[in-house]
Amino acid sequence: MTRSARPDDGLLHFPPDFLWGAATSAYQIEGAAAEDGRTPSIWDTFSATPGKVHHGDTGAVAVDHYHRFREDVALMRDLGLSAYRFSIAWPRVQPTGHGPGVERGLDFYRRLVDALLEAGLTPVATLYHWDLPQELEDAGGWPARDTAERFGAYAALAAEALGDRVSHWTTLNEPWCSAFLGYGSGVHAPGRTDPADALRAAHHLNLAHGRAAAAVRAAVPDARLSVSLNLHQVRPLTDSAADAEAARRIDAVGNRVFLGPMLHGRYDDDLLGDTAHLVDWDRLIQPGDTVAAHAPLDALGINYYTPAWVSADGPSTSVAHGTGSGSPWPGSESVAFHQPAGPASSMGWPIDATGLFDLLSRVHRERPDLPLLITENGMACDDYPTPEGEVRDPERIAYLQDHLTAVHRAIAAGIDVRGYFQWSLMDNFEWAYGYAKRFGVIYVDFATQRRTLKSSAYWYGEAARKGAIPTP
Ligand code: FCB
Repeated sequence: MTRSARPDDGLLHFPPDFLWGAATSAYQIEGAAAEDGRTPSIWDTFSATPGKVHHGDTGAVAVDHYHRFREDVALMRDLGLSAYRFSIAWPRVQPTGHGPGVERGLDFYRRLVDALLEAGLTPVATLYHWDLPQELEDAGGWPARDTAERFGAYAALAAEALGDRVSHWTTLNEPWCSAFLGYGSGVHAPGRTDPADALRAAHHLNLAHGRAAAAVRAAVPDARLSVSLNLHQVRPLTDSAADAEAARRIDAVGNRVFLGPMLHGRYDDDLLGDTAHLVDWDRLIQPGDTVAAHAPLDALGINYYTPAWVSADGPSTSVAHGTGSGSPWPGSESVAFHQPAGPASSMGWPIDATGLFDLLSRVHRERPDLPLLITENGMACDDYPTPEGEVRDPERIAYLQDHLTAVHRAIAAGIDVRGYFQWSLMDNFEWAYGYAKRFGVIYVDFATQRRTLKSSAYWYGEAARKGAIPTP
């Protein structure tokens, strides 16, 4: 079957080698925060700080995946998924961010990957999903250049330990959130609110990506390398010149701050201009940095949930782009974000699958040679078990159907999308929202750790097994 052939069975067929995956991250699911030599990360510190996370929740126990991973892998196998995207906890395999790897921590990932391979699932390992060792934050965190060098050394260690089993590697998950929510708005760990530090963090994350990419290539010559960006599908509220300018600004500091160095080896002049009063870019960017960040990639991972409607004038009404005590948009703080009428998830995020299609088209236009992966997409719902013990989530099924249809449309238009990772395999610790938001296709009773497949899990498993979804 060619990539576009379609049997006439009323289904939308995906290419036979398309990856049907689910995604999670270490701090959100593992628990076992103090076991086998793991040291605190910035999220342990942040969640233990009163007032930072809803209800005072932490990831100390999470959904106990560290002890229950075999059960979780078996669930994915039985559903018929073909890939699993997880993250490696830096403070578990290289506590403190320095020195040699800790074998007990590495062994956990060796066992996890072996279980995945045995179950026929392709492992996709993300090196960093926000759990910076606290010791490195104490030494300056991402605004400090040395953190990028530390990340390169950690990436080498992880790739050397797991490269015999893992060929799909992702350097960073959503560096925009690490930089601008962690050091700008302060709603994520470490909770700092300095616009200049947020920009410094962004540059050092670009550099860290480059260092890690080189380290993984050196350790795993046949690695399939990617990075996952939460690109903002920015839409001006009106066709006024002022709103177009607002959209340009958010595209610069929301998207091109990473797309520029990583895909093109440069920062765009308008971004540097918008932020020149905050940082001295000439001092920050050292010779060779953008060349390093422009490491060859085998795919770009895109995380997409909702588009962003922006205007030059406020007030902001968007729940999805709430700003915390600082702003996550250094230099463009006055841009307003809007909440369109229409359906939204229980996060309050508007549901709009056309945003995913538009985003895929945009990146494809920019780099037609680069294969794409959807490394996160999904929806929070107010799920609960019925008295019969079932969890019915038709809204999530509709969301997955709509977004997979958008992916199918992109593939039919000639865009090389290689896979889709639903966020998330199971309910988990949703960062500042604690356990209040459920994104899983598997329901977790947080008191007993019992897992129950939601109706969306059955729906998605059937899609994965058939390699096709119903025609809308
Ligand atoms: C993304 C994160 C992921 C999860 C989803 C809902 O920004 O990468 O960990 O929190 O949002």
